[in-house]
Amino acid sequence: DGLHSLMVKAGKMYFGTAIDVNNFADAKYMAIADNKNEFGMMTAENSMKWSSSEPNQGKFAFASADKVVERAKKNGQGMRCHNLIWYNQLPSYVTSGSWTNETLTAAMQTHITNVVEHFKGACYAWDVVNEAFGDGDGSYRQSVFLKNIGEAFIPLAFQAAAAADPDTKLYFNDFNLEISPDKAAATLALVKDLQARKIRIDGVGFQGHLVVGGTPTRDALATSLRQFTALGVEVAYTEVDIRFESLPASSSGLEQQAQDYAALVGSCLDVKECVGVTVWQFSDKYNWVSSVFKGKGDACLWSADYAKKPAYDAVIKVL
Ligand code: XIL
Repeated sequence: DGLHSLMVKAGKMYFGTAIDVNNFADAKYMAIADNKNEFGMMTAENSMKWSSSEPNQGKFAFASADKVVERAKKNGQGMRCHNLIWYNQLPSYVTSGSWTNETLTAAMQTHITNVVEHFKGACYAWDVVNEAFGDGDGSYRQSVFLKNIGEAFIPLAFQAAAAADPDTKLYFNDFNLEISPDKAAATLALVKDLQARKIRIDGVGFQGHLVVGGTPTRDALATSLRQFTALGVEVAYTEVDIRFESLPASSSGLEQQAQDYAALVGSCLDVKECVGVTVWQFSDKYNWVSSVFKGKGDACLWSADYAKKPAYDAVIKVL
């Protein structure tokens, strides 16, 4: 048994990973990614994002994302689809266009409708809005959407996604919900606001980009998840990686990372409405952290040469 099969035995829907077409040429890597015992739910790491899916206005480009979807389908794996509206990885016509409230709302609705309709039937869930809150105090993060449309961009995005696909779960997804009370409070308020307006939101994604030794305990994590499930939405960990702040990792560091991963996965087990856990790539070879945070990384379950790390064994054990 592997991660996904044990997760299912534990009563959850899935254990998943992000991958993308640039990984397909690596046969050793793909042997793990294709193995449904390990991963039952896939996320395209980049290919569904606006810069990839609508690189020029009105010209949709789905070839790469379709390859990820096809491969998952062939393996009997599901898809979590990521993402529709985000401040980042936007084409320049979006970030530097001269928009009004009306024109950007229309462009956003067109984007959402086309992308959601294209992948209809393939996605278990969509991350409709990604990372809308800032890092500090729970205020809305600056973006071209906030600037031109105001906070209404979020309900508008959820409405457009719901209209395009009544069957796919619609998520709000963000990081540090696990460790920032202000951000969690702002997100809770957002969920309540959407619900009060009868706009569908089905889930909240906890990205789970965490730090070795800085990951809350299993109980604290479960408490954070329950704040959301108390509102009637499901939750999932959607982009997990637990990074070292300095490298190389020591063997005690690897043990701490193992405990942190076990706490996170354990907290999902403890909360009935937590549907699953997705890691953001599964080998240190491909994880994004080292390219964004210099000198940090080794955040994954498998090493760069595909050996299972103590964290992998700890997750198996907690399942
Ligand atoms: C990252 C990808 O992993 C990188 O390959 C890319 O260069 C930048 O984006 N939060 C998210 C993800 O929601 O989409 C980000 O993915 C990581 C942070």
